[in-house]
Amino acid sequence: MSKTLGLYLREMETKHGIDPQLTGLIAHLADTCKEISFKVSRGALAGVLGSAGSENVQGETQKKLDVIANDIMCQACAESGYVSGIASEEMDHALQVPEQYAVGPYLVLFDPLDGSSNIDINVSIGTIFSILPAGTPHRDVTDEEFLQPGVNQLAAGYVVYGPQTQLVFTMGHGTVVFTLDLSSGTYLQTSEGMSIPAAAKEFAINCSNMRHWEAPVTRYINELLAGKTGPRGKDFNMRWVAAMVAEVHRILNRGGIFMYPRDNRDPSKPGKLRLMYEANPMSWLIEEAGGVATNGYERIREIQPTGLHQRVAVFLGAKEEVELVTSYHQ
Ligand code: F6P
Ligand code: MN
Repeated sequence: MSKTLGLYLREMETKHGIDPQLTGLIAHLADTCKEISFKVSRGALAGVLGSAGSENVQGETQKKLDVIANDIMCQACAESGYVSGIASEEMDHALQVPEQYAVGPYLVLFDPLDGSSNIDINVSIGTIFSILPAGTPHRDVTDEEFLQPGVNQLAAGYVVYGPQTQLVFTMGHGTVVFTLDLSSGTYLQTSEGMSIPAAAKEFAINCSNMRHWEAPVTRYINELLAGKTGPRGKDFNMRWVAAMVAEVHRILNRGGIFMYPRDNRDPSKPGKLRLMYEANPMSWLIEEAGGVATNGYERIREIQPTGLHQRVAVFLGAKEEVELVTSYHQ
């Protein structure tokens, strides 16, 4: 019989000395995502599809479900008693925990609903989270306290809302997968440790941006596209789900490389994806599964952040491929 999430977390406390407040926070976030999963699965029946008529700090149009998922996650973190502060893709600044709730030793960052353009078309989306240390629990958190490199993360993961709802996370002891059993409402372990093959034959990139890419990326992709008769001597397949959660999930399950490079459209934006609540947590999951994650120059998790919503180029997945495209940047 599969192990429940609760049992796995207890074992992590005893085997690896993980703080019960951290496992408590993960269990609480996992429970919270059941509610988001339920709303997502009801879609039009719950009246949650379509635009919210507002924009987030990045100037992106918010979907109703972006706002709903953000509210659910903020409330859950605030009332948990485990956190000192909350930061989200959907909020300009960090949120302090209201007076009526206790504070705890962690900072939580999240992308409440990643892959928003998939919401209305019933394609996979997900919630990404990253947990950082807050030091002594306190209430007056600032944005600056969140600006810690990804190597500081204590836990990171996502819940993917696809044909199955699955929780994928790491606390530094492998990347594990739990599947939500709808008949019992519990998460049951379905993988004890993901492993990404070092070689790959599948890549993911939004090729419509090709004319804007920088030279190393154009070179790398052209070599992949050249297939068997090109310099790589083999054919590659391509996928693009347009939800980072789904791309990372595919790579964890069957390998490959995912890229969202920086391009020349807007020099102020080094890439599309956000370092703090997209690239950092995903990079850790990939590394724990034997993969590599860089921005073309350095390991993503070692980047010293300068802003809560800062963007970063991302190359992640199969070791040999990420190392090759990174070497083209040198
Ligand atoms: O969060 C940003 C995001 O939705 C990612 O999940 C996804 O990988 C990417 O943007 C899709 O970008 P594009 O719109 O270029 O396909
Ligand atoms: Mn996102």
